[in-house]
Amino acid sequence: MKKLVAEKAVTDYVKDGMRVGLGTGSTAYHAINKIGELVEDGMSLTCVATSVKSRSQALGLGIEVVDLNEVPYLDLTIDGADEVSPEMYLVKGLGGALLMEKVVAAASKAVVIVVDESKLVDTLGTRSPLPVEVLRFGHTKTAAALARLGCEPVLRMSGDEPFATDCGNLIYDCGFGPIDKPHWLEAAVNTVPGVIDNGLFLDVATTVLVSRKDGSITKMGE
Ligand code: A5P
Repeated sequence: MKKLVAEKAVTDYVKDGMRVGLGTGSTAYHAINKIGELVEDGMSLTCVATSVKSRSQALGLGIEVVDLNEVPYLDLTIDGADEVSPEMYLVKGLGGALLMEKVVAAASKAVVIVVDESKLVDTLGTRSPLPVEVLRFGHTKTAAALARLGCEPVLRMSGDEPFATDCGNLIYDCGFGPIDKPHWLEAAVNTVPGVIDNGLFLDVATTVLVSRKDGSITKMGE
């Protein structure tokens, strides 16, 4: 299902000459592979990656990957998500790349999100905790302040060590439960000293493609 919807997004939206943002995660992985096929067939694309992993995958496929600072904007970004609400609001970051994903999405004219139907929720926060990227310095104090907003922050681990993002920061997965006021929460979380950004992506997706169990793909937005 992930491969199907990722390939559909690339086939329908990626055009010759575009500047394209490459997402991160197991669904975006398939999109990058498909973009690699287009490049191999002669399409000219300039891409920006949202993680070290996606960057090395793309380079291995012969895709030109540049720094985001080298392009004025991106035409399109294709990325996955952990939750999608009916308003096309998203929770992202279970893969740990939310910060670069948010910066890349903000630089993109169009953001096409590719998910299977298990990611659809009526209310954000009901399937996934909210990942929050924080500075290492004083992170236990940052976590205590997040808890005062009404969640139980859990430091993400990688084996015995705290998980480190590509930007060298830490992630607290914050179980807020159903998020009734996402815009308020996004701003409230980001005003906590030590917080760098959080996984709420609101008013970011321009299209969501959803892969269904029956083999169909449905579209939200546009
Ligand atoms: C990466 O940090 C995330 O935002 C991913 O985009 C998200 O976790 C979706 O990943 P999957 O496609 O692997 O479910």
